[in-house]
Amino acid sequence: MASYNIKINGQQKTVDADPDTPMLWVLRDKLDMKGTKFGCGIGQCGACTVHLDGNAVRSCQIPVSAVGGNSITTIEGLSEKGDHPLQEAWKKHDVPQCGYCQAGQIMNAAAFLSKNTNPTYQEIQDATNGNLCRCGTYNKIKAAIATAAE
Ligand code: FES
Repeated sequence: MASYNIKINGQQKTVDADPDTPMLWVLRDKLDMKGTKFGCGIGQCGACTVHLDGNAVRSCQIPVSAVGGNSITTIEGLSEKGDHPLQEAWKKHDVPQCGYCQAGQIMNAAAFLSKNTNPTYQEIQDATNGNLCRCGTYNKIKAAIATAAE
């Protein structure tokens, strides 16, 4: 067990954890931030996606000891009032069905749009096809990302 000082959503947090504890569990169990979801635990589904210094990463694959001075952003920190352009577009297109994967979908999309503000449909397709949705909301996800990019 060690103590880690991590910047999460703009705030310094201190957590005690084993060095190999995935950030997913630090967020959910130690910091009670339940927006980031556990899907597969092996880096395959994207439900646990957060930003590490603005890049989309799978928090189930990031040990707490690897975060260091990098900052983490979760779905709770993406916007102050749930009004990020992607969150507005998600509502407009009524994207979620069960909703479980959607925080990861939005975080993945937010990192993508921060680097590509005018994506083609193919680029949206390529950027999203690693985040799984068992309800099959893929077409709505892509439409919402296109709307947010307008
Ligand atoms: Fe991390 Fe599936 S829970 S990729």
